[in-house]
Amino acid sequence: MTLAAAPVTYDADVERIEIALLLEGIYRQYGFDFRSYAFSSIRRRIWKRIEAERLPTVSALQDRVLHDPPSMQRLLHDLSVNVTSMFRDPEFYVAFREKVVPLLRTYPFVRIWHAGCATGEEAYSMAILLQEERLLDRARIYATDMNELALQRANEGIFPLERMQEYTQNYLRAGGTRSFSEYYTAMYDGALFAPRLMRNIVFSQHNLATDRSFAECNVILCRNVLIYFDRNLQQRVHKLFYESLPIYGYLGLGSKESLRFSGFEDNYEPVDRREKIYRKVK
Ligand SMILES: C[S@@+](CC[C@H](N)C(=O)[O-])C[C@H]1O[C@@H](n2cnc3c(N)ncnc32)[C@H](O)[C@@H]1O
Repeated sequence: MTLAAAPVTYDADVERIEIALLLEGIYRQYGFDFRSYAFSSIRRRIWKRIEAERLPTVSALQDRVLHDPPSMQRLLHDLSVNVTSMFRDPEFYVAFREKVVPLLRTYPFVRIWHAGCATGEEAYSMAILLQEERLLDRARIYATDMNELALQRANEGIFPLERMQEYTQNYLRAGGTRSFSEYYTAMYDGALFAPRLMRNIVFSQHNLATDRSFAECNVILCRNVLIYFDRNLQQRVHKLFYESLPIYGYLGLGSKESLRFSGFEDNYEPVDRREKIYRKVK
């Protein structure tokens, strides 16, 4: 990855003002709220787009995205970082199988919310796990993201064939017990995932920075999303999650994320500290 950065001669104060104005403009014109994202990461992505568009300044990028929606789509792609994979961090799924599934079994119906699901690999992984645990038929997986293009791809259920070897390894390390190729059909350079896995997944657009919760869920997984947010936005999102979970509901975060500074540390107990799985207790 090229580490895009401002030219050395760029005035840092002016750059901050310009970035604030760009993000304000995007919010007012398109409704996407990046104003509370972690500054250094968003700054790097903005400069990457400035270079790709061959522009001289942040203000020039602002001018372009406000007048040219396709360039906003390109910037949105840079800002939303859709990197993901199936059974990402396999140990997380092992812990989920061992420590969360037994309680879910006692429920007549299970609702799981994947917040920031990108192109859906995480939701398909969960559907496979639940199917193997004989829970899929009484589960509903809500998978949301702010990025509509990513959700379109998620809905298609087709993933690059070239990644299936890596995903098979992840699946096995995640405690998978079957042959991973049972779950997809290879076609040209894509792997089409079995429609039975999709039946219980609902993909929809939801923005954690601006939208409210939509349903009470037994489990919320929000992995590798909060790292991009500043502390205020993280707290907003934690409040949303807290309000969407019943007592004994589970919250799963990414490996670099935690409940620290969320304002809700005391309301959860760790279920698996290493894998960042928590349970709401009050
Ligand atoms: C790095 S991906 C993580 C995907 C998946 N959870 C995983 O761990 O593999 C981050 C995702 O968060 C989404 N995202 C970023 N800001 C968001 C917001 N305010 N609301 C909803 N989704 C957001 C991005 O569009 C992107 O798809």
